[in-house]
Parts: sequence; C-alpha cells; structure tokens
Amino acid sequence: MFNKITTLRDISINKMKETIKKLNKLKKEKNAVILAHIYQLPEIHNIADFVGDSLDLSRKAGQTNADVIVFCGVHFMAETASILNPKKKVLIPDLNAGCPMADMITAEKLKEFKSQYKNPVVVAYVNTSAAVKAESDICCTSSNAVNVVKSIVGDTNAENSDIIFVPDRNLGNYVRKLTGIKMNIWNGFCPTHNNFILPEYLLKAKEEHPHAEILVHPECRPEVASEADHIMSTGVMCRYVEKSTAKEFIIGTETGILYKLRKDNPGKNFYPVSSFAVCPNMKKITLAKVLDILTNMKNAIRVSEDIRQKAYRPILKMLEIKAQG
Ligand code: 13P
Ligand code: SF4
Repeated sequence: MFNKITTLRDISINKMKETIKKLNKLKKEKNAVILAHIYQLPEIHNIADFVGDSLDLSRKAGQTNADVIVFCGVHFMAETASILNPKKKVLIPDLNAGCPMADMITAEKLKEFKSQYKNPVVVAYVNTSAAVKAESDICCTSSNAVNVVKSIVGDTNAENSDIIFVPDRNLGNYVRKLTGIKMNIWNGFCPTHNNFILPEYLLKAKEEHPHAEILVHPECRPEVASEADHIMSTGVMCRYVEKSTAKEFIIGTETGILYKLRKDNPGKNFYPVSSFAVCPNMKKITLAKVLDILTNMKNAIRVSEDIRQKAYRPILKMLEIKAQG
C-alpha cells in the first residue's frame, strides 16, 4: 500500500492553480484585461488575454473596452498603453521592470542632438520614455520601423529633413541598410540582444542544425543579422514560423519567445542562438505580483498630461503604419 506523498512540486502547482483562480475572479470583478509581451514567463503567457509584440500590444491597448489594463512587460510598454488610454488604469506588476536601452536616451540628450540639425525629423523606437516620445515626430517598433522611415521620405514636406533615429543603433543600421535612407542614429543598444547573441554562438548553432531556418531580431548586432535568413520582430517571427514549411528554426532573440513558438507549433523544433539571451527586466513580472497589483490596484502608471499630449501624436502615427511581412 503506497501513501500519496505531497511533493514541493505538488504544493507549488496547487498554489499556482489557486493564484490563477483568484486572478480570474478579480479580472471579472474589476473588468480588467491582462496584456503580456512575448518575452514574459510561461505562466504569464498562460494567464494573459493577449500575448504579442510591442506593436500588437499597443494596438490592443488602444482598442480594449476594459477599465483596467494589467501590463505584463517593461515600463515603456505600460506607459505607451497609458498614453493611449488616459481614462483607464494601467497597472504594471513591477515598477522597476525598465528597459536599459530606453534609458540610454533622455529628452534633454535628444533636444541637444536635434539642435545639431537644421530640419530634424525624429523617429523614436517605442523603447523610449514618454518624455523622449514627446520630443519626437513619429514612433516605430521593430515590426514597422522600415515602413515608418519610408513614410517620412514619402512625405514631400520632409524632403529636406535630417532623419534622426533613437535609441537603437542596431535597428537603425538595419533600417538604413534596407532602405538606403540616410539617418543619424543614436548609439544605444539592447544589452540582451547586443551582448548575449553573438556571431560565434550563431555559427555554432548553424553547425549543429544545418537545415534550420535562421530568424533574428533587428536589435541583434549587424554581424549576427548578416548570418540570418530573416530579420524580424518577435510578433512577425511568430506569424512567419506558423506559415513556413521549415521544420527547424534557430531563433536569435530573447529566449521567452521559445515557449510561445513551441506551444503554437508542436511539430517544429526551435533552438536559441544563445540561452544567455534573457531580459532580466521582463522576468521581474511574476504571477504573485500580478495578483498583488490587481488585488490592491497598485503600481498605476502616471504620465503628466502635458507630456502625454505631446507623446500621443507620434504614437498614433506609429499605429497608422503597418508591420512588415
Ligand atoms: P518587439 O517589438 O519585437 O516586441 O520587441 C520589443 C523588445 O523590447 C525587443 O527587445
Ligand atoms: Fe529592453 Fe532589450 Fe529587455 Fe527589450 S529585451 S525590454 S530592448 S532590455
């Protein structure tokens, strides 16, 4: 006769189930929606109403009828949702979940940079603070950056302008190379993509999986991008993989995406370029923190009305431009 032994694993699974039950109840009571970025932990994917890339998340945030948006991602993403929804409560499970690349440029530094050009037009990657967006003409994400920059050149008023692109040098260089459009690019970068997805790792993965298609994020270094079959944002990658006839993929972006790719494509295999490519800020969001903020309605994002109004226009312009692919 065997006694059932309750293991630590059982305890944590039961606790997780309990948390999810409480969360679902609170979501209904407060008319809340949970939006999560693709880099979030698997348990966050599983409780989210929508999981997507930066552009799709901004679109969802702009369309929701919910009174409360719980944003499982980093600060600039929740801030963008709040700029689009000034009357709604936008809560972030951890106020310290920032983006080091976004912190590489401030509004003051951007003003200084702009002052060096006669007719500056600023394209701000959405990975920027509201104050930087307020100093910009149009925002972009990695999925529509090429179309955003082309749209500026297509605009005859911008014919003699000096395009400034902030803050990601890798995304900026990728857009410049693809479009041939001259841009003045800030020297920022994403530590996760730039420092942990290295050409030597990609070459090793290629050797190990010679038949795999290689997809990398434009935040990767140019030496990595030049070895890839496709350069894509996280959302475009997810859609591409579903349609591709390939069975194996080498993925050059933050490893959180692997959970979604494997879940949505059970017959396909995915190999990260580097398992070190983890964004510590994305991983600050936990189920316990989501439950805590929704219970206590805390960690609301606040943007001053003056900055919000100025940042709203470039975000709205970004939403008008479609993603690649
Ligand atoms: P996506 O726009 O592809 O979601 O990327 C956001 C991001 O922060 C990448 O590091
Ligand atoms: Fe910022 Fe890089 Fe993390 Fe994306 S992965 S949020 S760019 S630090």
